[in-house]
Amino acid sequence: MKTLLRIDSSFNVEDSFSRNAADHYETLWRELHPASKVVYRDLEKFEMPHLTQSVFSAFNTTEVSDNGLHISNMLIDELESADTVLISSPVYNYATPSTLKAYIDHVVRINRTFGYDPENYTRKGLLSGKKAAVIVSRGGMPINGESPDGVERYLQGILNFIGIVEVDTFSIYGTTHEGSANRFRSTKEQITQCFNQN
Ligand SMILES: Cc1cc2nc3c(=O)[nH]c(=O)nc-3n(C[C@H](O)[C@H](O)[C@H](O)COP(=O)(O)O)c2cc1C
Repeated sequence: MKTLLRIDSSFNVEDSFSRNAADHYETLWRELHPASKVVYRDLEKFEMPHLTQSVFSAFNTTEVSDNGLHISNMLIDELESADTVLISSPVYNYATPSTLKAYIDHVVRINRTFGYDPENYTRKGLLSGKKAAVIVSRGGMPINGESPDGVERYLQGILNFIGIVEVDTFSIYGTTHEGSANRFRSTKEQITQCFNQN
């Protein structure tokens, strides 16, 4: 049985472009994997704490006691059990929502999602064999054909760092401009094409 871990982060739960595109991705993924499971991590509903010094220190210990690691443990367990990870993110002030950044801070963790070899100063992602999709929606338009904020590249970089190298990215531009419905349709078509190719 395949598992999709879906992580949504827009604080708009009614008519969000990124959530709607993620719905489309999830529908197609379920069609492809009929006997499957979807684990849903909605960062608008879950109270995601900021990473603190004490929790970060606990990342580096081998003690069995909890040390405030329960949230990090739970989120990493979800990532480990997923075959596909779907992240949907709006752009807020040139970045991901702070809830998604806090999520990332809890799951990028030494000896759980990446390893470090002090002899060669090299790091290695530990979550291999998984796929991911990143959906980003923003009010603004591309500049010279490029994302003006780099959110797709950032999320792709984090996924690569923890070992998820196969990442499809989908961008929705100009959600606050005229013609947003057409642009949204074209992003949905790109998602559909991605499933048709696989
Ligand atoms: C607090 C806030 C900050 C925003 N900052 C940006 C920004 O830096 N760049 C941009 O292109 N759009 C920005 N927007 C517009 C959103 O990215 C846009 O409304 C997008 O569609 C939100 O995603 P959603 O529809 O999935 O909720 C901002 C919106 C809000 C509410």
